[in-house]
Amino acid sequence: MFDIKDLYQEVIVDHNRSPRNFGKLEDADRTLEGYNPLCGDKLTLYIKTDGDKINDIAFDGSGCAISVASASLMTDAMKGKTLQEAESLFNHFHSLVTTDDDVDMEQLGKLAALAGVKAYPARVKCASLCWHTMHSVIQGDNTPVHTE
Ligand code: FES
Repeated sequence: MFDIKDLYQEVIVDHNRSPRNFGKLEDADRTLEGYNPLCGDKLTLYIKTDGDKINDIAFDGSGCAISVASASLMTDAMKGKTLQEAESLFNHFHSLVTTDDDVDMEQLGKLAALAGVKAYPARVKCASLCWHTMHSVIQGDNTPVHTE
């Protein structure tokens, strides 16, 4: 049976209670919305780059604890990364939550706290919402993202 306690590790609780990088980034040069049609949760991602490097990143919207914690952790991890490094992190995270492949946990750092969602497909969508949105931004795709 689904036991939410398995997922709500300390890091996740902390990032849900006090989300980092939460709010609108007024001078963002890229903005994209992500939507989970299963629950109606939405987030908007704001990114400021200097062409290749992510100088600042923020998000807002409403979502469950896992989606908020994941966006908080992701935005923290993305700051200062190049778009190529960001895409690599996306691939690592995607493997972590959707495959049994060996993933470089060191590169993931605190993001590894989200590994527990793998056992719960609905929760994978919660955790992935911000990541798929980020992925689209990196790809230069301006179409709002749906997790379906
Ligand atoms: Fe909506 Fe998790 S329940 S994103």
